[in-house]
Amino acid sequence: MPSMLQVRSEGSRRAIVRLSERKWRNRVFEKPRKLHGEADTSPSDKRTLWFVTQNRHKYQEARRTLDPFGIKIRMLASPKTEIQSTILGEIAKFAAQEAAKKHKRRVLVEDSGLFVRILNGFPGTFSSYVHDTIGVGGFLRLMNRQTRREAYFQASLALASPRGSSQEFSGKVHGTISHKPSGTQGFGFDPIFIPRGARKTFAQGGTQFKDKYSHRAIAFRKLARWYIRTKI
Ligand code: IMP
Repeated sequence: MPSMLQVRSEGSRRAIVRLSERKWRNRVFEKPRKLHGEADTSPSDKRTLWFVTQNRHKYQEARRTLDPFGIKIRMLASPKTEIQSTILGEIAKFAAQEAAKKHKRRVLVEDSGLFVRILNGFPGTFSSYVHDTIGVGGFLRLMNRQTRREAYFQASLALASPRGSSQEFSGKVHGTISHKPSGTQGFGFDPIFIPRGARKTFAQGGTQFKDKYSHRAIAFRKLARWYIRTKI
């Protein structure tokens, strides 16, 4: 059992906390009329997946991937609890189960990270913290003079119901860490990650390029196939 709990701010938590309860609810869920549980939603809304994240890039990537499968997704910009663990799947599952109970609906949580081979997998589940503290520049300095630059991104997804059940999916993309940042698109470590088989970084490639290779797209496609198969 993980020993410590912490709440991940993902940037805008402080701003949200200052809002009144009603405004906060309206901001957290994209449309206020969906707030009062399943009773006032139309039947099709029951199949809508609520993605708990405050990261718009992650949300947009998920949405682009699920769209062709005809799966509707909405953003639930609520803070989530993040346990300390070196296993992405554990972090996502705990946060999803807790959020599903809190919001009384089925929710989706994703946790991801960059794992660098020569650094024994660092920053891994601490990627967000490392990005917020030393940034891409600081991280490249850590990699200074390293000739072995293999790395992978991994995303773990958990879909949890308020009754406690959950399903997990994951995706991985192998590649290398570039020597300098290139490109302006995307987020996080996109400017320094070159997927295997490509010659440019995620940040240079744009959305189609990212979706072709990305760990997140792989995980969301697995979820989509499962979701369609099980028709829950
Ligand atoms: P978390 O899932 O909120 O813990 O954050 C994961 C962190 O890993 C992000 O803040 C990024 O720094 C990094 N990361 C995860 N996925 C990606 C990606 O697709 N592109 C760039 N950075 C990523």
